[in-house]
Amino acid sequence: MCSVKSAMWRGLILGGLLLAFLPSQAAMAAPQYWLDPAGPVAEMQGRLFLLTLWIMIGIFVTVSGVLVYTLVRFRAKGAAAAGSAPGGAAARRESAAAGEQDLPPQIEGSHKLELVWTLIPFLLLIVIAIPTVRYSFALAADPEGDPIKVRVVGHQWWWEFQYPELGIVTGNEMRIPVGRPVELVIESDDVIHKFWVPKLAGKMDAIPGRVNRMWFQADEPGVYYGQCAEMCGTHHANMRLRVVALPPAEFEQWADNWGRGPVVTSEAERQAVERGRQVFETRACFGCHSIEGTAARGVAGPNLTDIGLRTTLAAGILENTPENLARWIDDPQSVKPGALMPRVGLTDSELNDVVAYLRSLR
Ligand code: CUA
Repeated sequence: MCSVKSAMWRGLILGGLLLAFLPSQAAMAAPQYWLDPAGPVAEMQGRLFLLTLWIMIGIFVTVSGVLVYTLVRFRAKGAAAAGSAPGGAAARRESAAAGEQDLPPQIEGSHKLELVWTLIPFLLLIVIAIPTVRYSFALAADPEGDPIKVRVVGHQWWWEFQYPELGIVTGNEMRIPVGRPVELVIESDDVIHKFWVPKLAGKMDAIPGRVNRMWFQADEPGVYYGQCAEMCGTHHANMRLRVVALPPAEFEQWADNWGRGPVVTSEAERQAVERGRQVFETRACFGCHSIEGTAARGVAGPNLTDIGLRTTLAAGILENTPENLARWIDDPQSVKPGALMPRVGLTDSELNDVVAYLRSLR
């Protein structure tokens, strides 16, 4: 009987440890694991979180340890045997009164102890308060160095990134130079969204009619995944984004080339691209999308000037391949039901030409 019980306990403890361990392992490998920071802002925030977490774990373990010890050490011995017998409780009281019961020392009114458990939390709060105040001011201050400005606008369900100093507008993929702070001005065009790139910084609301500010910096080149973190409608979960951190020279190159027009490698491609451009500028496309240097000046949908360079489509839900681009243009509602992008109704050859045109914008 006893061995069955202890096996059960062992199983429970082992199961609990596994449950705690496996998700943390999976999370650490995940691209949005926020305790694996890639820049100074996420690092400061993570450090503050971990400091508070470890102090809380220390308090929890100490308090529950003392509680469990007291429960076990000073339990009414033999109560289980005596409890069911008539007069059991009365007998226990009697034996306790007679001094046989193992009672803990009575400490009520001990000035020494009360001083100790007032001082310890006081000191712990000071330990938490000092870095909290320091980091709060550091994060609220303007970043040092030569920051680049980006205006982030949340839309149902995609992200717009404007670079006012560079005259660049792009969508869903924000390109930034490595090692340079990025000053973000965060707004919304419709409902409340929340901008979040876990490895670079904590969340920030995008609220219509309000301007929120934050900054981050990527220390290593790479792609940092993010997503909307505020329920904003049907495709809240499909409102993803990527921050692509490039070495400064590559970033400059991207900024210089932005809006330079189609890149083609053959005459046949040039002709298809030209036909595609005409379709784009005469059918519904141009009413909602902008492409730098063309008649397409719509602002309801993402600016497509560098669409050929982006790795994904429809706010991160499709890989940017010719097949997926054709599928997305041909029937957006089958990909993202409820999205504002309507079906334009292009013929197969028009669709192919538009795909060739958009792919060439790189
Ligand atoms: Cu936008 Cu959730």
